[in-house]
Order: sequence, then C-alpha cells, then structure tokens
Amino acid sequence: MRKHKNWLGLVMAVVAAIFLGFVAPAMADEADRHGMENDMPLPTEAAALENGKDRFQARCSYCHRPDGRGGSSGVCLACQKYKHGSRSSQIYATIAAGKPYTKMGAFASSLSSEEIMNIVAYIRELQEWKIKDDAAAPK
Ligand code: HEC
Repeated sequence: MRKHKNWLGLVMAVVAAIFLGFVAPAMADEADRHGMENDMPLPTEAAALENGKDRFQARCSYCHRPDGRGGSSGVCLACQKYKHGSRSSQIYATIAAGKPYTKMGAFASSLSSEEIMNIVAYIRELQEWKIKDDAAAPK
C-alpha cells in the first residue's frame, strides 16, 4: 500500500514538472501575443527594418513615443493588445487609412506601401522588445 502511494507521488511530480517546464511557458508566450499574427508577410532584411525605424521615428514617435509605448497623444503600439486588431494586415490598414475622429491620421498619401510594411515590421520589433522588456528598445 505504501509503495503504491510513492509511485503516485512520483507520477504527479513528473506531470507537474512537464506542465511547469513546457506547457505553462508556451501558454504564457501565446497569451502575450494577442493576435500578433503576420497574415501579411513582413520584410525581414536589415535595410527594410532600418527604413521602418527611420520612418517610425520621423513620423510616429512624437505621438507614440520612440519606444512605441505611447504617450499623452498616442496609444501604446509596443503593447500586444490592439483596439483595431494586431494582425499585420490590420496594423497596415490602420496606418494607411488612419482612424477618423481621432488624432491618428491616414498615411497612405505620404508613405509608400513599402514604407508602411517596413514600419509594421519595426512595430513588431518594438512589441518583442516590450515582451522581453529588452534594453534594446529605443528610449
Ligand atoms: C498626431 C498623433 C499621432 C501620430 C503622428 C501617429 N499616431 Fe497612430 N494613433 C494616434 C492615436 C491618438 C491613436 C488612437 C486612435 C483610436 O483611438 O482609435 C493611434 C492609433 C494607432 C494605431 C492603432 C492602435 C490600436 O490599438 O489599434 C496604430 C497601428 C498606429 N496609430 C500607428 C501609427 C504609425 C505607424 C504612425 C506613423 C506613421 C502613427 N500612428 C502616427 C496618434 C498618432
């Protein structure tokens, strides 16, 4: 009888270890990424990201802050939950068309579609930095 109890304890410890070691981190990772799906493929080349950073800092950072974490007039873009959707196609649409009756203007006439895609790729970097609370995020 005693022996049987020890086995049960061991099995439960193994199950708990598997859960804590593999399942829980994967679940937390997923929960951090509320719909951050790249249904529109993003550029990955260094030059594209550099251009996205340059355009973001020039055109967006004074409302959304250089680290994208939002300020007095722009919402947090480095955060994972978006009001208007955080799939890459939705972020692209928000930037291109803007949001009427808010300070978020439309950029389709002043940025090329390539530049907007580069900015979306850069926003993903800002989000990843925030998830990791990475020192690499611009201040
Ligand atoms: C004049 C200030 C201002 C500038 C400049 C600006 N934004 Fe915004 N942006 C806002 C505000 C305010 C909102 C919130 C709109 C709302 O309430 O729906 C917003 C919303 C957004 C959203 C949607 C966030 C969500 O939760 O769905 C995205 C994406 C975004 N901005 C990207 C950009 C990018 C990229 C640029 C530069 C090309 C930019 N914005 C420039 C003020 C600004």
